[in-house]
Amino acid sequence: MQLTLTLSGSGMQLLLLVSSLLLWENVASKPTAIVSTDDLYHRLVEQSHNTFIMAADVYREFDINFAKRSWMKDRILPLCHTASIHTPENLEEVHEMKTEDFLNSIINVSVSWKEPLKHLVSAVTALPGASVSMGKKAVDMKDKNLIILEGLQTLYNRTQAKVEENFENFDYPAWSGLKDLQSSDEDTHLFAIYNLCRCFKRDIHKIDTYLKVLRCRVVFKNECGVSTF
Ligand SMILES: *[C@@H]1O[C@H](CO)[C@@H](O)[C@H](O)[C@H]1NC(C)=O
Ligand SMILES: *[C@@H]1O[C@H](CO)[C@@H](O)[C@H](O)[C@H]1NC(C)=O
Repeated sequence: MQLTLTLSGSGMQLLLLVSSLLLWENVASKPTAIVSTDDLYHRLVEQSHNTFIMAADVYREFDINFAKRSWMKDRILPLCHTASIHTPENLEEVHEMKTEDFLNSIINVSVSWKEPLKHLVSAVTALPGASVSMGKKAVDMKDKNLIILEGLQTLYNRTQAKVEENFENFDYPAWSGLKDLQSSDEDTHLFAIYNLCRCFKRDIHKIDTYLKVLRCRVVFKNECGVSTF
């Protein structure tokens, strides 16, 4: 990993990708303390970016093959279960938010997806007509969310947060869609899957964007274009 840091440009990107593929699992299951904070940001951005691409794929495939056009006029898209988590909405709010508070709210989003993603995996893999690749991507999304979460918690632990967070008792918004997801009414069942795919895609995009903003702040000391925001 040290070697890759002396490289720049696409060479570094490629090596980071390769090394995160090779090493990430290892790093995730062993103490992350050995990974520098800069490195951890690079890896997390890589992971969240890839996870967003998977989530967009799953959403697209579900939308094309299973979503019903009638939903758009017959049903109201519900708020995502994470909607109440406060995250900055504009550049000014981003700049005002302390790194630990920022991390805390991204952790909140990630934690609140642990449960629903498990159920999404069961629903997608049991869905008649769903491709094997869509099922695999759903499993991957669930696993990657846990890896990203652990990375975020490690970063949080390294900030100067006054109260050390005990993540065991972390308070997060509960997801209440299980009944609909397991409904025997096909339309209700499919609409519940649709909303999980839609909301996860939205939230992982948020996590990815915020991680890039934080990396810019922490690793590059704000010396990078935050045009993505
Ligand atoms: C997570 O967000 C919810 C909803 O806004 C909030 O009630 C809860 O306190 C947050 N958790 C933490 C640990 O900040
Ligand atoms: C962060 O610190 C808390 C409190 O000391 C600890 O319980 C937790 O395991 C740590 N998490 C990580 C991912 O380092």
